[in-house]
Amino acid sequence: MAPKSNHLLLKAARGEEVDKVPVWVMRQAGRYLPEFREERSKSDFFTICQTPELACKITLQPVERFPLDAAIIFSDILVIPQALGMEVIMQPGEGPVFPNPLKISDVAKLSEASVVPDVLSYVFDAIRLTVDKLSGRIPLIGFAGAPWTLMAYMVEGKGSKTFSAAKSWLYKHPVLSHQLLERLTESTILYLVGQVQAGAQILQVFESNAEYLTPDLFRTFALPYLQKICDTVKQKLKDMELPVVPMIVFPKGGHFALSALSKTNYDVIGVDWTIEPSVARSLVGPNKTLQGNLDPCALYGDKASIEEAVRRMLEGFGRSRYIANLGHGIYPDVNPDSVATFVDAVHRFSSQPATI
Ligand code: CP3
Repeated sequence: MAPKSNHLLLKAARGEEVDKVPVWVMRQAGRYLPEFREERSKSDFFTICQTPELACKITLQPVERFPLDAAIIFSDILVIPQALGMEVIMQPGEGPVFPNPLKISDVAKLSEASVVPDVLSYVFDAIRLTVDKLSGRIPLIGFAGAPWTLMAYMVEGKGSKTFSAAKSWLYKHPVLSHQLLERLTESTILYLVGQVQAGAQILQVFESNAEYLTPDLFRTFALPYLQKICDTVKQKLKDMELPVVPMIVFPKGGHFALSALSKTNYDVIGVDWTIEPSVARSLVGPNKTLQGNLDPCALYGDKASIEEAVRRMLEGFGRSRYIANLGHGIYPDVNPDSVATFVDAVHRFSSQPATI
């Protein structure tokens, strides 16, 4: 079936009026779902990503449980470093690990960006399969990591409290850092265009490591690449006569980035839970859709406290130009019933005209 363009989420992203606020959850397909853990006990994380039938099945798991307004393709941002030739393993309990983190002398050895669409064709296959299974019910979100966020993992080799090894490159080796960020940008552009070609109806770029940067570092090493990704992806889609889909940018922890991002061509800006909705709105102005920002830990509360938190969040953001979500990925020990409460509360409260 042809994908619809009048879905709640797409309308909110484009700034059109909606009769209720759309909602999805970052990491909605993940370890808090017993059916995900069951699949994960049988297969390695990246094997799932590389097997379109499995990636599709897991993408649909949360959608079958909850009336979510979007599905997000099951994959990981680190498939780009893999496609460029780096080894990444997913260590249960620890997260992603690069056995050989990027060294200065390795930058020149990375593959060309042009290999990315071929190497990651399994993601495009998973998207085609999933769009087909969704039969136009809700849109499918495609995604990628932003260049600085990818660089941080590639240099650091794993998660970090400071990302000081990766940041040291920005100060000690700025020229080489820019070369690496440029390669990641080119790769990401081809990857995102391929996802739309396969059927993704909206794209999210995760700048999850924005929070480690200073405003100056953000302006120099993150913003230009985020901007180039948005502008070039949209231009290429236009040239290829593909739908020019809305794009979301999520600069986690980057309050300092919100005002600058509001001047880019991203349609939606994601915010985490450390900012008041009204402050986020005043920083981005009236012409961007905001997405977020419930504290993932709010889902540990009982039904009444989740509902109260949702009510406050909706009051803060209002109902137009807004997509409800958590302020970051859901934690693995959250009770799935709390997600049901969250999604229902967003829909119910936001469709009551008098309340907000
Ligand atoms: O449901 C969805 O949101 C789609 C799938 C998705 C995953 N990762 C699956 C995943 C998405 C959109 C991502 C994005 C991603 N991956 C980001 C950006 C968002 C964010 O969280 O900031 C980042 C930084 C990564 C890299 C990554 N992958 C980390 C740091 C970790 C470890 C942290 C954790 O949550 O465990 C992962 C692991 C990961 N990615 C899991 C899943 C379901 C759990 C791993 C497992 O099953 O063993």
